[in-house]
Amino acid sequence: MTQIEDNQPEIKDTPLVPIEKVVSLSKRRGFVFPNSEIYGGVAGIYDFGPLGVELRNNIKRYWWWSMVQNHDNVVGIDGATITHPRVWEASGHVENFVDRLVDCKKCKRRFRTDHLDPENLEQHKCPVCGGELTSEPRIFNLLMETYLGVVEGDRMKTYLRGEACQNIYLDYDNVVKSSRVQVPFGICQIGKAYRNEVTPGNFLFRQREFEQWDLQFFVHPSEMDKWYEYWKNLRFEWYKGILNHKDRLRFREHASDELAHYAKKAFDVEYQTVLGWQEWEGIHWRQDWDLTRHSEYSGQDLRYTDPLTKERYTPWIVETSGGVDRTFLNLLLDAYEEEPDPNGKEARTVLHLHPWLAPVKVAVLPLQKNKEELVSTAQSIHQNLRRYMVSQYDDVANIGRRYRRQDEIGTPFCVTIDFQTLDDQTVTVRERDGMTQIRLPISELTMYLLDRVTWK
Ligand code: GAP
Repeated sequence: MTQIEDNQPEIKDTPLVPIEKVVSLSKRRGFVFPNSEIYGGVAGIYDFGPLGVELRNNIKRYWWWSMVQNHDNVVGIDGATITHPRVWEASGHVENFVDRLVDCKKCKRRFRTDHLDPENLEQHKCPVCGGELTSEPRIFNLLMETYLGVVEGDRMKTYLRGEACQNIYLDYDNVVKSSRVQVPFGICQIGKAYRNEVTPGNFLFRQREFEQWDLQFFVHPSEMDKWYEYWKNLRFEWYKGILNHKDRLRFREHASDELAHYAKKAFDVEYQTVLGWQEWEGIHWRQDWDLTRHSEYSGQDLRYTDPLTKERYTPWIVETSGGVDRTFLNLLLDAYEEEPDPNGKEARTVLHLHPWLAPVKVAVLPLQKNKEELVSTAQSIHQNLRRYMVSQYDDVANIGRRYRRQDEIGTPFCVTIDFQTLDDQTVTVRERDGMTQIRLPISELTMYLLDRVTWK
């Protein structure tokens, strides 16, 4: 029997995909919707639709599996998005988490000074219309304020977390005391963060509510270099593993004047899209900044005692901090292709998503919907498959159109039930990228698919 290659065929060197293409597909097929759209929407805030939530969950689950479940010395937590307000003083965000903005006096556009070309900044010249820019930058803190309590006057001002990782430092001591972890060890979390971005935009790229995945890895200072390199390389390979265009991934080291207030050194994993080379994940050398500051501000001793040597010290931290939403966007941009039809018909829109991440794993399609036996066989296959993976049953429109519908949402496999099925209990399995087809006994179908859509 012919076997479909395990590895997806390399996709052609397709051009960079305009953001509008994935915005339109996302809305049309239920991946992403603008939040509160019926009220005119809110800039920088989005909702995820039926397919979006599946893709997003798969991406997060794969990260969790790779980072937590696949490492003996890493555990996970899930912290609240509201914390004590002192956390943000200790973390340095109240003082340092700011954007500096200048305005164009002519076209009224607003620019972050760190996004402007140095020449434009020096000459106070608007990069869009050439008008004059205001000379003194205005300073905006990005933390989103909220209030706890109901009685006016007794309400406590606090913040929605500006970076998700703070919970990890807050829970560090509890994790050490309640789990059997020993330095070197890591704590992971996936969770929402909120920033009052002054220039949200480019779809999911810069939002005001978004999700981050963080690893904070606690090490003895003498081992910082080794572990920094370990996680930096592992994260790069992780992203490479889920991309079609692996050559669009690179590292970029931060110059000293762009380092965040908590970092002594940082490398960004960057990905190239129509927006240029942009940050996807930061690998930060946070050293002892966080635990020292939280010790100072809380009055709690957060040092660690080595169980063997009894040395007492503040562990240093390697942070890997990436965006779930940027991963979602980059994967769509990486996967999207409008493939010309060799016979000059309408182009095929296809999402070459990794089968591990695709929102729907398999579509089950009876060749005709008015043949009772085809439909009942297809239904029983679908009901069996959906115990193991996301399966969609579809009997509307001709088979070609149904394949196209699945290609557009990245479904890696379509199973067709035809008249031969009724004779010999075999089905056709069509693979999305190469559009190759094989026949397979129904009894082998579940294992065949599971082998290809489950990460390992
Ligand atoms: N704890 C470190 C930290 O928060 P960061 O570089 O500010 O570092 C980490 O954020 C990641 O979070 C970024 O690499 C990016 O993927 C994502 N991210 C940051 N701001 C974002 C925003 N406004 N919208 C969407 N994702 C964002």
